[in-house]
Amino acid sequence: MPDPSPVMDFLLSRRSRPAKLLAPPVPDCAELTLLLTAAARVPDHGKLEPWRFLVLGRAACLDMAGAVAARGPEAGIDPERNVKAVAAFAKAHLIVTVIASPKPSEKIPEIEQTLSAGAVCLGLVNAALACGWGANWLTGWPALDAPMQAHLGLAPQEWVAGFIHLGTAVATPPERPRPDIAALTTWRA
Ligand SMILES: Cc1cc2nc3c(=O)[nH]c(=O)nc-3n(C[C@H](O)[C@H](O)[C@H](O)COP(=O)(O)O)c2cc1C
Repeated sequence: MPDPSPVMDFLLSRRSRPAKLLAPPVPDCAELTLLLTAAARVPDHGKLEPWRFLVLGRAACLDMAGAVAARGPEAGIDPERNVKAVAAFAKAHLIVTVIASPKPSEKIPEIEQTLSAGAVCLGLVNAALACGWGANWLTGWPALDAPMQAHLGLAPQEWVAGFIHLGTAVATPPERPRPDIAALTTWRA
């Protein structure tokens, strides 16, 4: 290895912290701006910036919990499933909504813009973890529901790539099984 770096140790051990195990304190405005700056430093074919951030503080998380509670039955969501969706917002003190915001382009297919939005989500999770925060990338039915998207102020072509929950992890969950690289990798010399 030409240049072993502590970053590699981080990448080999990083793991999300479940949203239900996150509590205050959460990153302040300056800390979050730094995390967002790191998150936005992603591959982006054509420099279209096909994503943006909507930061939900505590009051906005509670507002989302209320909106999800009201919309769930209307949207035909199973009540048990909706209790979980509501609880995720009701417990949160800071959520960054990563909004995929595709740009019209003859050159860059929309799928590539989607991949860039996913990279932003992972970048934000990783930046937060690297700073010692807990972070969790969630979606759930509200991410895909048009009235909920309108409630969040999304334009018709936009959609939620992730609700990134941020905070302080109050417990460390057991490690999840990790992929078998040999089983997933084909080599051609
Ligand atoms: C696009 C996307 C959406 C996800 N949505 C949810 C979700 O709604 N609920 C959930 O429990 N996990 C969800 N997950 C999985 C969590 O992010 C999970 O914590 C993560 O896969 C743990 O992996 P890590 O420890 O390698 O970071 C989602 C993952 C992705 C990539």
